[in-house]
Amino acid sequence: MAENIFPIYDRMLSREERERQLGQRGMMVWFTGLSGSGKSTVALGVERELAARGILCRILDGDNIRAGINSNLGFSEEDRRENIRRIAEVGKLFVDTGIVTLACFVSPTEEIRRMARGIIGKEDFFEVFVSTPLEECERRDVKGLYARARRGEVKNFTGISAPFEAPANPSICIDTSQLELEESVKRVVKLIQDNQPNK
Ligand code: ADX
Repeated sequence: MAENIFPIYDRMLSREERERQLGQRGMMVWFTGLSGSGKSTVALGVERELAARGILCRILDGDNIRAGINSNLGFSEEDRRENIRRIAEVGKLFVDTGIVTLACFVSPTEEIRRMARGIIGKEDFFEVFVSTPLEECERRDVKGLYARARRGEVKNFTGISAPFEAPANPSICIDTSQLELEESVKRVVKLIQDNQPNK
Protein backbone atom coordinates (compact mmCIF):
# COMPACT_ATOMS: atom_id res chain seq x y z
CA MET A 1 0.00 0.00 0.00
CA ALA A 2 1.93 2.97 -1.29
CA GLU A 3 0.07 5.45 0.94
CA ASN A 4 1.41 3.76 4.09
CA ILE A 5 5.04 3.67 2.93
CA PHE A 6 7.50 6.39 3.87
CA PRO A 7 10.79 6.06 1.99
CA ILE A 8 13.91 7.51 3.57
CA TYR A 9 15.95 7.67 0.36
CA ASP A 10 16.29 11.44 0.64
CA ARG A 11 18.08 11.13 4.00
CA MET A 12 20.47 8.32 3.09
CA LEU A 13 24.02 8.82 1.84
CA SER A 14 23.81 9.80 -1.81
CA ARG A 15 25.10 7.67 -4.65
CA GLU A 16 27.71 10.37 -5.39
CA GLU A 17 29.02 10.17 -1.82
CA ARG A 18 29.30 6.39 -2.01
CA GLU A 19 31.00 6.52 -5.39
CA ARG A 20 33.48 9.13 -4.14
CA GLN A 21 34.23 6.89 -1.16
CA LEU A 22 34.87 3.90 -3.44
CA GLY A 23 36.59 5.87 -6.20
CA GLN A 24 34.51 4.16 -8.86
CA ARG A 25 31.24 4.44 -10.72
CA GLY A 26 28.36 2.01 -10.17
CA MET A 27 27.20 0.34 -13.37
CA MET A 28 25.18 -2.65 -14.52
CA VAL A 29 26.80 -4.97 -17.03
CA TRP A 30 23.95 -7.15 -18.24
CA PHE A 31 24.99 -10.44 -19.90
CA THR A 32 22.31 -12.00 -22.05
CA GLY A 33 22.59 -15.24 -24.03
CA LEU A 34 21.55 -18.88 -24.20
CA SER A 35 22.12 -21.31 -21.36
CA GLY A 36 25.69 -22.57 -21.71
CA SER A 37 26.80 -19.63 -23.86
CA GLY A 38 29.48 -18.64 -21.33
CA LYS A 39 27.87 -15.70 -19.49
CA SER A 40 28.92 -16.76 -15.99
CA THR A 41 32.36 -18.02 -17.06
CA VAL A 42 33.19 -14.67 -18.67
CA ALA A 43 31.75 -12.77 -15.68
CA LEU A 44 33.94 -14.78 -13.28
CA GLY A 45 37.01 -13.84 -15.31
CA VAL A 46 35.93 -10.19 -15.36
CA GLU A 47 35.42 -10.25 -11.59
CA ARG A 48 39.01 -11.45 -11.06
CA GLU A 49 40.42 -8.77 -13.37
CA LEU A 50 38.41 -6.03 -11.68
CA ALA A 51 39.49 -7.22 -8.23
CA ALA A 52 43.12 -6.98 -9.37
CA ARG A 53 42.44 -3.37 -10.42
CA GLY A 54 40.80 -2.54 -7.08
CA ILE A 55 37.30 -2.24 -8.51
CA LEU A 56 34.52 -3.55 -6.27
CA CYS A 57 32.18 -5.81 -8.21
CA ARG A 58 29.38 -8.32 -7.65
CA ILE A 59 28.03 -11.11 -9.85
CA LEU A 60 24.32 -11.91 -9.89
CA ASP A 61 23.77 -15.22 -11.64
CA GLY A 62 20.69 -17.18 -12.77
CA ASP A 63 21.30 -20.44 -10.98
CA ASN A 64 22.18 -18.71 -7.66
CA ILE A 65 19.32 -16.21 -7.67
CA ARG A 66 16.86 -18.91 -8.67
CA ALA A 67 18.00 -21.03 -5.70
CA GLY A 68 17.33 -18.15 -3.30
CA ILE A 69 15.32 -14.98 -3.74
CA ASN A 70 13.52 -16.35 -6.82
CA SER A 71 13.08 -19.97 -5.74
CA ASN A 72 9.32 -19.69 -6.25
CA LEU A 73 9.68 -18.92 -9.97
CA GLY A 74 9.77 -21.23 -13.01
CA PHE A 75 10.33 -20.61 -16.71
CA SER A 76 6.96 -19.49 -18.05
CA GLU A 77 7.08 -16.11 -19.77
CA GLU A 78 5.41 -14.53 -16.76
CA ASP A 79 7.85 -16.08 -14.26
CA ARG A 80 10.86 -15.07 -16.34
CA ARG A 81 9.58 -11.50 -16.40
CA GLU A 82 9.15 -11.52 -12.60
CA ASN A 83 12.60 -13.13 -12.24
CA ILE A 84 14.21 -10.32 -14.24
CA ARG A 85 12.12 -7.60 -12.57
CA ARG A 86 13.31 -8.60 -9.09
CA ILE A 87 16.90 -8.96 -10.28
CA ALA A 88 16.81 -5.52 -11.88
CA GLU A 89 15.42 -3.98 -8.65
CA VAL A 90 18.11 -5.69 -6.57
CA GLY A 91 20.74 -4.81 -9.16
CA LYS A 92 19.72 -1.17 -8.97
CA LEU A 93 20.51 -1.18 -5.24
CA PHE A 94 24.01 -2.47 -6.02
CA VAL A 95 24.53 0.12 -8.76
CA ASP A 96 23.30 2.89 -6.45
CA THR A 97 25.89 1.70 -3.92
CA GLY A 98 28.60 2.33 -6.52
CA ILE A 99 29.26 -1.32 -7.31
CA VAL A 100 30.10 -2.69 -10.76
CA THR A 101 27.35 -5.28 -11.04
CA LEU A 102 27.54 -8.21 -13.46
CA ALA A 103 24.14 -9.79 -14.14
CA CYS A 104 24.19 -13.18 -15.91
CA PHE A 105 20.70 -14.14 -17.01
CA VAL A 106 19.32 -15.68 -20.19
CA SER A 107 16.83 -12.77 -20.26
CA PRO A 108 15.53 -14.08 -23.58
CA THR A 109 13.35 -11.31 -25.00
CA GLU A 110 13.77 -7.67 -25.99
CA GLU A 111 10.77 -6.84 -23.82
CA ILE A 112 12.32 -8.37 -20.69
CA ARG A 113 15.66 -6.63 -21.28
CA ARG A 114 13.90 -3.32 -21.98
CA MET A 115 12.16 -3.67 -18.61
CA ALA A 116 15.50 -4.31 -16.87
CA ARG A 117 17.06 -1.30 -18.60
CA GLY A 118 14.05 0.82 -17.60
CA ILE A 119 14.35 -0.14 -13.91
CA ILE A 120 18.11 0.37 -13.77
CA GLY A 121 18.26 3.46 -15.98
CA LYS A 122 19.75 3.53 -19.44
CA GLU A 123 22.88 5.53 -18.55
CA ASP A 124 23.89 2.78 -16.07
CA PHE A 125 22.91 -0.20 -18.23
CA PHE A 126 25.48 -1.89 -20.52
CA GLU A 127 24.34 -4.91 -22.48
CA VAL A 128 26.76 -7.72 -23.31
CA PHE A 129 25.35 -10.21 -25.80
CA VAL A 130 27.07 -13.58 -25.39
CA SER A 131 26.21 -14.74 -28.89
CA THR A 132 27.65 -18.27 -28.82
CA PRO A 133 25.47 -20.23 -31.30
CA LEU A 134 22.87 -22.72 -30.11
CA GLU A 135 24.74 -25.64 -31.75
CA GLU A 136 27.81 -24.88 -29.64
CA CYS A 137 25.83 -24.43 -26.41
CA GLU A 138 24.08 -27.71 -27.10
CA ARG A 139 27.36 -29.44 -27.93
CA ARG A 140 28.83 -28.28 -24.60
CA ASP A 141 25.65 -29.12 -22.68
CA VAL A 142 27.45 -28.50 -19.39
CA LYS A 143 24.32 -29.11 -17.29
CA GLY A 144 22.81 -31.85 -19.48
CA LEU A 145 19.72 -29.69 -19.91
CA TYR A 146 19.75 -29.54 -23.73
CA ALA A 147 19.64 -33.34 -23.94
CA ARG A 148 16.76 -33.40 -21.47
CA ALA A 149 14.97 -30.60 -23.33
CA ARG A 150 15.32 -32.53 -26.64
CA ARG A 151 13.74 -35.53 -24.92
CA GLY A 152 10.89 -33.30 -23.80
CA GLU A 153 11.81 -33.66 -20.12
CA VAL A 154 12.40 -29.92 -19.64
CA LYS A 155 9.57 -27.72 -20.87
CA ASN A 156 9.99 -24.19 -22.30
CA PHE A 157 13.73 -24.57 -22.68
CA THR A 158 15.29 -21.48 -24.24
CA GLY A 159 16.57 -22.16 -27.75
CA ILE A 160 14.74 -25.50 -28.01
CA SER A 161 11.12 -25.00 -27.00
CA ALA A 162 11.12 -21.35 -25.93
CA PRO A 163 12.36 -18.32 -27.89
CA PHE A 164 15.57 -16.35 -27.63
CA GLU A 165 15.62 -12.96 -29.33
CA ALA A 166 19.08 -11.58 -30.09
CA PRO A 167 19.44 -8.02 -28.78
CA ALA A 168 19.35 -5.38 -31.51
CA ASN A 169 21.84 -2.94 -29.98
CA PRO A 170 24.18 -4.52 -27.43
CA SER A 171 27.15 -2.52 -26.12
CA ILE A 172 29.31 -5.48 -27.13
CA CYS A 173 28.89 -8.93 -28.61
CA ILE A 174 30.97 -11.94 -27.57
CA ASP A 175 30.94 -15.36 -29.21
CA THR A 176 32.81 -17.71 -26.88
CA SER A 177 33.10 -20.33 -29.63
CA GLN A 178 35.27 -17.88 -31.61
CA LEU A 179 37.18 -16.06 -28.87
CA GLU A 180 39.57 -17.31 -26.21
CA LEU A 181 38.17 -16.80 -22.70
CA GLU A 182 40.97 -14.32 -22.00
CA GLU A 183 39.97 -12.21 -25.02
CA SER A 184 36.27 -12.24 -24.08
CA VAL A 185 37.18 -11.12 -20.56
CA LYS A 186 39.43 -8.38 -21.93
CA ARG A 187 36.65 -6.91 -24.07
CA VAL A 188 34.22 -6.71 -21.17
CA VAL A 189 36.88 -5.24 -18.87
CA LYS A 190 37.56 -2.58 -21.52
CA LEU A 191 33.87 -1.70 -21.70
CA ILE A 192 33.87 -1.26 -17.91
CA GLN A 193 37.16 0.67 -17.75
CA ASP A 194 36.00 3.02 -20.51
CA ASN A 195 33.07 3.96 -18.30
CA GLN A 196 34.97 4.38 -15.02
CA PRO A 197 36.41 7.66 -13.81
CA ASN A 198 40.24 7.91 -13.89
CA LYS A 199 40.93 4.15 -13.74
S1 ADX B 1 15.65 -16.31 -17.49
O1 ADX B 1 15.13 -16.74 -18.78
O2 ADX B 1 14.61 -16.14 -16.48
O3 ADX B 1 16.50 -15.10 -17.63
P1 ADX B 1 17.75 -17.50 -15.88
O4 ADX B 1 18.99 -16.91 -16.44
O5 ADX B 1 17.23 -16.93 -14.60
O6 ADX B 1 16.61 -17.51 -17.03
O7 ADX B 1 17.98 -19.06 -15.63
C1 ADX B 1 18.51 -19.84 -16.67
C2 ADX B 1 19.18 -21.11 -16.14
O8 ADX B 1 18.19 -21.95 -15.56
C3 ADX B 1 19.81 -21.88 -17.25
O9 ADX B 1 21.19 -21.61 -17.38
C4 ADX B 1 19.59 -23.32 -16.87
O10 ADX B 1 20.63 -23.78 -16.05
C5 ADX B 1 18.35 -23.29 -16.01
N1 ADX B 1 17.09 -23.69 -16.67
C6 ADX B 1 16.25 -24.64 -16.18
N2 ADX B 1 15.15 -24.74 -16.95
C7 ADX B 1 15.29 -23.83 -17.96
C8 ADX B 1 14.46 -23.47 -19.08
N3 ADX B 1 13.28 -24.07 -19.30
N4 ADX B 1 14.90 -22.50 -19.92
C9 ADX B 1 16.10 -21.91 -19.69
N5 ADX B 1 16.91 -22.21 -18.66
C10 ADX B 1 16.52 -23.17 -17.78
